[in-house]
This record gives sequence, structure tokens and C-alpha cells, in this order.
Amino acid sequence: MVTTLTVNGEQKSFDAPPDMPLLWVLRDILGLTGTKFGCGIAQCGACTVHVDGKPVRSCVLPLSAVRDRSITTVEGVGATPAGAKVQKAWLDLEVVQCGYCQSGQIMSAAALLAVTPSPDDADIDAAMAGNICRCGTYVRIRAAIKQAASGRQS
Ligand code: FES
Ligand code: FES
Repeated sequence: MVTTLTVNGEQKSFDAPPDMPLLWVLRDILGLTGTKFGCGIAQCGACTVHVDGKPVRSCVLPLSAVRDRSITTVEGVGATPAGAKVQKAWLDLEVVQCGYCQSGQIMSAAALLAVTPSPDDADIDAAMAGNICRCGTYVRIRAAIKQAASGRQS
């Protein structure tokens, strides 16, 4: 069935079944491959995108649940104030190791800073707990979130 979604500020129309997970739509239909498939069961955070500004696991979110909502992916989050700060801090502090988890990490961090501009450690723990990094970049992720929050330059 033909569906229209707003993705990164642009209207996209395509034909897909209503139970298709949003992650499949983004990657396989719209070609937005920055969002990653990790576990497929909402346990790792690799597939995190924003729906109306809130972080969600797109691997378990059916297309029918996001009609008429605004989707932001890692390809578009840099256009938001919080996303731009997060991406700059990620680069400044060279957070990334293999990179596989990092689009999800960035999306969760940007969603946190959009609502909590000066997060403490507990806020960061709560927001980032669902994003797993097999490379163990957690220390740099925390430092980058704090840098992005402070506006500090490296
Ligand atoms: S792929 Fe969605 S949470 Fe792991
Ligand atoms: S950077 Fe490799 S899994 Fe996180």
C-alpha cells in the first residue's frame, strides 16, 4: 500500500506493507543506510531514529505506527541544533571505533540533549543504557555528550 512519510524534512511516498518495520523502509526502500540493523529485537540500539523527536528502535516499529509522524535519521540529525553539537563532539573526540553502533548512539545522544541540554551522569546513563557498543567506546561517548552539552571546543 502507498504510504507517505516525512523523513529528514522531506516527503517520501512508496509502496510497502503496513507491518514492515521502519528500519526496512529506511534502508531498503529509501536507501538511508546510516541506520543499522543489529539485533532486530529492540535490544541493541543500532537502529535508533527519532519519531517526532523521540528516540525509537526502528527494527520493531511497524510502518503503520509512524504514518503522519516526522522521522529523523542519522543522515538528517545534523540539521538539528542538538544533532549538530553531538556530531561535532563525536568528531572532535574521535569517539568511533568500528562505527557500527554509532549512528544509534548519536541519535540517542541528540535526543537527550534536545530535551536535557545539561545532562548529569544519571541522565546520560538513562538515555544511553539501551545503546550497546561492542567496541566499548562508552567513556568517549560520555565525554562527547558532555562536550556537546557544554559547547566546549576540544
Ligand atoms: S537492531 Fe533495533 S535495537 Fe538492535
Ligand atoms: S564502535 Fe564498534 S560497536 Fe560501537
